[in-house]
Amino acid sequence: MRPIEIAENVFWVGAVDWNLRDFHGYQTEKGSTYNAFLIKGEKTVLIDTVKADFADRFLQNLSTIIEPSKIDYIVANHAEMDHSGSLPKVIAAVKPEKLFCTTKGQQTLEAHLNCEGWPFAPVKEGDLLELGGKTIEFIGSPMLHWPESMVSHIREDNILISNDIFGQHWATAERFDDEVDRGELHFQAAKYYANIFLPMSAGMRKFLTKLEKKGITPAMLATDHGLIWRKDVAGIMEKYRDWSEQKTNAKAVIVYDTMWGSTATMANAIADGIRGDGGVSVSVHDLRYNHRSDIITEILDAKAVVIGSPVLNKNILPKMADLLTYMKGLAPSGKIGAAFGSYGWQDTIVKRLNEMMTEMKIDVIDDGVSVNYVPKPDDLARCIALGVKIREAILQH
Ligand code: FEO
Repeated sequence: MRPIEIAENVFWVGAVDWNLRDFHGYQTEKGSTYNAFLIKGEKTVLIDTVKADFADRFLQNLSTIIEPSKIDYIVANHAEMDHSGSLPKVIAAVKPEKLFCTTKGQQTLEAHLNCEGWPFAPVKEGDLLELGGKTIEFIGSPMLHWPESMVSHIREDNILISNDIFGQHWATAERFDDEVDRGELHFQAAKYYANIFLPMSAGMRKFLTKLEKKGITPAMLATDHGLIWRKDVAGIMEKYRDWSEQKTNAKAVIVYDTMWGSTATMANAIADGIRGDGGVSVSVHDLRYNHRSDIITEILDAKAVVIGSPVLNKNILPKMADLLTYMKGLAPSGKIGAAFGSYGWQDTIVKRLNEMMTEMKIDVIDDGVSVNYVPKPDDLARCIALGVKIREAILQH
């Protein structure tokens, strides 16, 4: 996509990746964008670049607004390759006077790329880059999303170039939040937080607090992925505060895999118990048809996680093992949980699921329900009773 001016002498110069479908295990069904920004003062700076595959197109697009060799500086807010992979080609074309990044940023870039001769100029918290007419403050954002990360605040425009923070994996021709469907935008922002930032929530809280202490209330959040926030800045920042505090709603997520349908039948009976006469939201997810990254998105603001699997060769089914491995890494906190499943000749799996949830610091509120082969009416009554117990626990929180 061609560059656009997002504020006076501030340009979006990124790339749209319409075809991205997987981001290290996160299903990106709507693609993504790699946003980079050109800021013109008396001096000119390029902030971030794009994935290596897009380097040539990126330089062509950049050339429509400036001859790359006329760019004075480059800033690398983040060394991950979706933002830095094209740096070798870009640096060769730009020949910048200085390449600004954190000290860890330099080390991380050197670990990934041949940086011989690059004009590194490490910066630290609060350093200013004076362009003449534009002033950029560098603000550390460690672990958001890598240890070396920082963000860049354009003081005159009050635009926060926020690196991965506030991003969404969503490829669009539009560039601003008010140009797209709000529901889809917020879903994609939540999915991004759940799958990228959830384990970094403590760092996110510190970062948001740091912005407050600095008195920065951005007019625009120019994220490196997806739509730029200019209308609902306060709304997404509030959501980030809630997600980073892992606030939950009266909501339960039931996730299961099933072999011959027994565990599926149990899942639906438990859902009936949770639903009761309303007031608690419940959704049911069969792992054969739902991707782990969408399930984590559902779990983000849920109070209860209820998981079910039958026994396969003394263990849980592979898709459940996949989900639990992924979920353990993302480390959701403040959840309650329960387990269920059917078995043939070894009644072991619910106990194992309980252990796995306990390892994840999920508060397991019941021993769970296991059923031999196919649930009978009394088994379904036990499932409904488990649902009622989960419901009551949710309402007490
Ligand atoms: Fe979009 Fe952490 O890279």
